[in-house]
Amino acid sequence: MITEKPVESSAELVLRAIEALSEKAFLPIIGSEKGKFLAEEIRLARPKHVLEVGTLIGYSAILMGKELDADAEIVTIEIHRGEAEQAGNNIAKAVISAKVKIIKGNALHIIPTLQGIFDFAFIDAEKTEYLQYLHLAEPKLRAGAVVFADNAGRFADQMSDYLNYVRNSGRYRSRYIGVGDDGVEISVKLT
Ligand SMILES: C[S@@+](CC[C@H](N)C(=O)[O-])C[C@H]1O[C@@H](n2cnc3c(N)ncnc32)[C@H](O)[C@@H]1O
Repeated sequence: MITEKPVESSAELVLRAIEALSEKAFLPIIGSEKGKFLAEEIRLARPKHVLEVGTLIGYSAILMGKELDADAEIVTIEIHRGEAEQAGNNIAKAVISAKVKIIKGNALHIIPTLQGIFDFAFIDAEKTEYLQYLHLAEPKLRAGAVVFADNAGRFADQMSDYLNYVRNSGRYRSRYIGVGDDGVEISVKLT
């Protein structure tokens, strides 16, 4: 019997290549296990405007972008020029229909300058700054927006102010999903 392998899209091939690279030389990408939860939240929320803090080389932007339609846009911020350039190359190779705009710079300075309203935010940069990113983004997040934060298990101590805020401020409905030795915090903005 001949079993045919499913044809992988360009985006899937780029994701697999980055995962392979990450096994050889550690790269702090969200990875395939936690990435499944990110992709699932994107499929459920079907956002049109996504904010990502911490692009690295584009893995998570591609993971989200491949779930989105051509009328959706991801704005992703990366402080390091080299990583931002690699992300641009990887995203071009992935050929996804959603638009991805990479902004090089410090998210603490960039977020206040962004125009428009976002319906999804993925926070995955400096752990001790998560709450600052959120406070800066909050006026631009619509009610019902999903805020997905990586590393809420492994770095819970460094982001304890963030976790305390989304869990106890009354402004979010928040849940933690443990994945292996780490986890993600998924918070829905209530108003
Ligand atoms: C964990 S990696 C992001 C991984 C990526 N989201 C993925 O899953 O493929 C964190 C990235 O955030 C960037 N970063 C750290 N602090 C930043 C800041 N203040 N503004 C923008 N980017 C920042 C780092 O340079 C690094 O590339």
